[in-house]
Parts: sequence; structure tokens; C-alpha cells
Amino acid sequence: MNSESRARVEAWLQYFNDLNISSFYLDRFSAPTAPENIPPGEPRPKPDTIFAVKTPAKDFNSLAQAAPLAAALPVVKSASLFESSNRIENDTLERIREDIGDCKRCKLCEQRTNIVFGSGSGKAELVFIGEGPGHDEDVQGLPFVGRAGKLLTQMIEAMGLRRDEVYICNVVKCRPPQNRAPEPDEVETCSPFLFRQLAVIHPKAIVCLGATAFQSLMASKLSISRLRGQWLDFRGTPMLATYHPAYLLRNPNAKGEVWDDLKKVMAHLGLKPPARR
Ligand code: URA
Repeated sequence: MNSESRARVEAWLQYFNDLNISSFYLDRFSAPTAPENIPPGEPRPKPDTIFAVKTPAKDFNSLAQAAPLAAALPVVKSASLFESSNRIENDTLERIREDIGDCKRCKLCEQRTNIVFGSGSGKAELVFIGEGPGHDEDVQGLPFVGRAGKLLTQMIEAMGLRRDEVYICNVVKCRPPQNRAPEPDEVETCSPFLFRQLAVIHPKAIVCLGATAFQSLMASKLSISRLRGQWLDFRGTPMLATYHPAYLLRNPNAKGEVWDDLKKVMAHLGLKPPARR
């Protein structure tokens, strides 16, 4: 291996080490034959299959049972090493936060004030996932504390829950400049930490707020308006997408649809709406 390739492999290993992934396996079925065993004149395989991982069809196939439309979701073409690895043993939210450190893994670090890790109960039965921190969240280091956050709090309370009983986080942990949507490389870099958070909390249900959260978890570009309010499957956990509270601030007429979605979540969790005062 030349020094440039070596440096690239080392950088990748450091990245996975930061994610607490240390076990790698060699795909025996697609691994190249050892070069010394290839007869002279035979073509040599490309030496890139050491990290080849088979598609984890099981998780994503179960989507088809969850909702007919979900069958249209594309199967993820090649799983990342993170997805192929089993749950990290003894992982904790504290350890994930430590691994994130003073993150400089993507360009969002350049303008952020605070990393917004997530807040709420580590034992929550319900997790809400938004897109990324806005201005108020960036300043305070907490998710959903601005105007959209106040509406989210009202939605949670309407379900008969307190904010500190659920867990709230985002697809990316640093504020995208001008509140733009996170870019694919930013989502790809940050989402392994979100997936670890979800594995640790192991909620009974996940609610994706808006298209970015839904599309990131499902690895799909399908529109949220088509799949909103349907139960899907995220690695064995029931997941439902609804509109983002910021969208509701601009389109209050959609509040009824969101409330219908939240009622499905309440039924799943065995919650009754609080009596009206
Ligand atoms: N919007 C989001 O998606 N997340 C936040 O934390 C705040 C606003």
C-alpha cells in the first residue's frame, strides 16, 4: 500500500474509531484472491473489496409489511460499515457525546456556536427527530427551543407527556448556515451518532419531524406528504413521519393532519389525551 492510500485508510479507521466501531470483517465472497495465487495472465481484481458489506435487506424489507407504499422505498444500495456493525456493547449517551468531542468532521463546524446533541430522557419511549439546530438552538446548545420548539412542546403536552419524558434531537448536530437544509455529506457524517443515540435509547416509537429526518432515516427521497402518518420501520423500531413544526407555523391548516399522526403515536404508546381544562 502506498503512503497516500495508507493515510486515507488511517483517516477512515480513525473516523470509525471515533464512532466506537473497531470490528471489521472481510467479505469472503467478494474478497479478491490473494495476488500471489493468481495465475500469470489472469485479470487481477480491484483491491477495494476489503470493506465490502452486503446490503442488510432484512431491516428494509420489513418496511413492506409496515405500509404498502413503503414497498416502493429503495433498498439501500451499499450499507455503511456502521450499519453493518452490530449494536455497540455498553454504549451510552455520555460516551456518544464524548466521541463527538469538539467535532470538526464536516463543514458545519465552521459557523456553529454549540453542538446540539439532544435533550430529554435517555429512557424515553418516544423520540422526536428534527432537521438541524436553528439560531436559538445554536446559541443555547439545546434542540427545539425557538418558535418551532415552543410549538413542539405544545404538541408533546397535548399528547399528555412532558418534554423531559421524551427525547428530542436532530439529524445534524450543528446549525446549517442561514438555516439551509443539511447537505448529504453532512447528514452522512453526523447520522451515525444519531443512530447510536437511537440504539441506546431504544424507544417504542420514533417521530420524524419533516422530510430531512424522514429521508435520512429511510435513506429515501420519497416525499413526506406521501408517507406521512404511516408506520414504517427503522431497524426494528416503529417510525412515523409528520410535518415539521416550522412548517406548521407557516401552514397552520396542517395542524389537524399532524394531530391525527400524533394520535396514532399515542395509541401505540397507550396514551390518552389529557382532559381539557
Ligand atoms: N428545527 C429543527 O429541525 N431542529 C431544531 O432543533 C430546531 C428547529
